[in-house]
Amino acid sequence: MTALLEPYSGVEPDAAWRDEVRRLVDQRDAVLLAHNYQLPAIQDIADVTGDSLALSRIAAESDKSTIVFCGVHFMAETAKILSPDKTVLIPDARAGCSLADSITGADLRAWKAEHPGAVVVSYVNTTAEVKAETDICCTSSNAVDVVASIPEDREVLFCPDQFLGAHVKRITGRRNMHIWAGECHVHAGINGAELAERAAANPDADLFVHPECGCATSALYLAGEGIVPSDKVKILSTGDMVTQARSTRATSVLVATEVGMLHQLRKAAPEIDFQAVNDRASCKYMKMITPAALLRSLRLVKDEVHVDAQTAERARASVRRMIEVGKPGGGE
Ligand code: 13P
Ligand code: SF4
Repeated sequence: MTALLEPYSGVEPDAAWRDEVRRLVDQRDAVLLAHNYQLPAIQDIADVTGDSLALSRIAAESDKSTIVFCGVHFMAETAKILSPDKTVLIPDARAGCSLADSITGADLRAWKAEHPGAVVVSYVNTTAEVKAETDICCTSSNAVDVVASIPEDREVLFCPDQFLGAHVKRITGRRNMHIWAGECHVHAGINGAELAERAAANPDADLFVHPECGCATSALYLAGEGIVPSDKVKILSTGDMVTQARSTRATSVLVATEVGMLHQLRKAAPEIDFQAVNDRASCKYMKMITPAALLRSLRLVKDEVHVDAQTAERARASVRRMIEVGKPGGGE
């Protein structure tokens, strides 16, 4: 799924494109969903832009017969698992995810065999095959609640993101939690040294840090050492960043996540100066959903996402548990 080819190109996101996209969305009886890391033009044309938990819930509840998921493949796959009778389209099925690629179903089966009786918690950034081997899925916005809901005497296997896992372990104080050593190449590249430097240069700024970041530990270290006041460091999912932007009193915010996030933040709070900690933190997979790809998708009813019935059946329970845990937010 991660073989990289050139994104579909050659279409400007102008007024004619917007009219044609919205006309086709109606004609296809579709709901158009976009993740917070999508290109601004895609975020702006979607019915809903949000985080992965909010979009999963909206996909599950929609009364439309078609879901067009502007995000990466595991997100569209999750929508298909929840709504097997709907047509689920992703504008470019080559939009994969390096984090989802860091564990396979076979890897997880072998890990489970080493820890019989453990409860498996998988981040939503996983393939359907991995979800089928999972007890309960989570996203960054409800990972802490999901792990806290598991009886304390049960061992937990958490996969695949090591930084989110470390954050959850720290917050829950859970000792019997084993963490898979996967990472997202975009977030792992946002490191603590860079964050410390930016924080020192902007002492009044809030720090919004996604828990997938390699810098999450350092952000908490900076707070713990008093280098940055602890009330300034917020570890947040992408949706919770938007919620926080609406209520913070800060006039500037340093944002440690994929750069697509800045668009929703600036829309939510135009008076705040939002700056990326690392402005090279762009996910090439998310950016494969171009205006040309979306138009092609709606015109040709492509790329349709399929999950084989047996895998979907096994994965559904863990995904349903995920959407039941945690408060609404993130675009809902
Ligand atoms: P959230 O929208 O759940 O915070 O996820 C971030 C992400 O990396 C999705 O790929
Ligand atoms: Fe996957 Fe990272 Fe891209 Fe999110 S930002 S889709 S976790 S590669």
